[in-house]
Amino acid sequence: MKEAVQSLLERASRALSGLEEDPKALDQARIRFLGRKGELAQLFKELGKVPDDVRREVGRVLNEAKAQLEELFSEALEKGREHAEGKREAIDVTVPGRVPLLGRLHPITQVALEITRIFNWLGFETVEGPEIELDYYNFEALNIPKDHPAREMQDTFYISEDVVLRTHTSPIQVRVMEKRKPPIRIIAPGRTYRCDSDVTHTPMFHQVEGLMVGKNVSFGDLKGVLATFVHEMFGPEVGLRFRPSFFPFTEPSAEVDIQCVICRGQGCRVCKQTGWLEILGSGMVDPEVYKYVDYDPEEVSGFAFGMGIERIAMLKYGIDDLRLFYENDLRFLGQF
Ligand code: PHE
Repeated sequence: MKEAVQSLLERASRALSGLEEDPKALDQARIRFLGRKGELAQLFKELGKVPDDVRREVGRVLNEAKAQLEELFSEALEKGREHAEGKREAIDVTVPGRVPLLGRLHPITQVALEITRIFNWLGFETVEGPEIELDYYNFEALNIPKDHPAREMQDTFYISEDVVLRTHTSPIQVRVMEKRKPPIRIIAPGRTYRCDSDVTHTPMFHQVEGLMVGKNVSFGDLKGVLATFVHEMFGPEVGLRFRPSFFPFTEPSAEVDIQCVICRGQGCRVCKQTGWLEILGSGMVDPEVYKYVDYDPEEVSGFAFGMGIERIAMLKYGIDDLRLFYENDLRFLGQF
């Protein structure tokens, strides 16, 4: 009997080796050795035929063998589980990679680059100026008198009596003319600040300034340059008009309207039924300004213009809420 038990244990352990990776075969082997009608059960049955004096001893051997067999199987089962997990954790090189979230330029930056690209193409050089500006460049040299409403505390962020956050990009005109002699053709994008906050105004916004000064620069040149810009930016079919206006640093001055991009001039809510949308301020540089930069108004003439980048972006993309530009919702930003 002991020999039968020993042979059973040996056969079982031989049968098990190599079966760890095959749970089905492992289960079959378990039934064959440990099952209700299995080989061990068969041996237990013979316990009845064993002489009385050794039955106790044989019973002990069989129970031991049972414990050993169960141990063998649960070890094999455990090995099999580890093996399967190892397989699951292994890298599957055929799985397609995750597409990384790509960063992109903010729509305001994109529109600023598009505007400067068009003017660069027309021969205008991109320049920049400081956002913290002297009152002199922001107001005084632009012929904006001390009692002008733009100088009010409500509109301007004052840092000290002579230092402000620039309220427009026009001070760059003066800084450039001060340093260079005509001919000048510059385009200057940047941040601007006004103490203003509601649905259509944010305390920080963006403008682009343009300036061209030289011999015989005329209002006709201004019209030609701005018409070319509008057609490049909004499409050749979009009409524009020059409307008389006033700025202290240009004379004569004009505001430029384009045909409403929503209703194509028919009249709608966006253009307040007029069919037109204002996009920029412009004019011939006022001779008063030349005095500050030592240019001779008898010798040179020029034009300047300034536009709000947010406004251009809203019209180009049909965005009706200014705040979307500053909330940085990726679902919004991802559309450009
Ligand atoms: N600086 C003016 C504004 O902010 C725009 C402008 C620029 C007008 C240049 C004329 C010439 O409204």
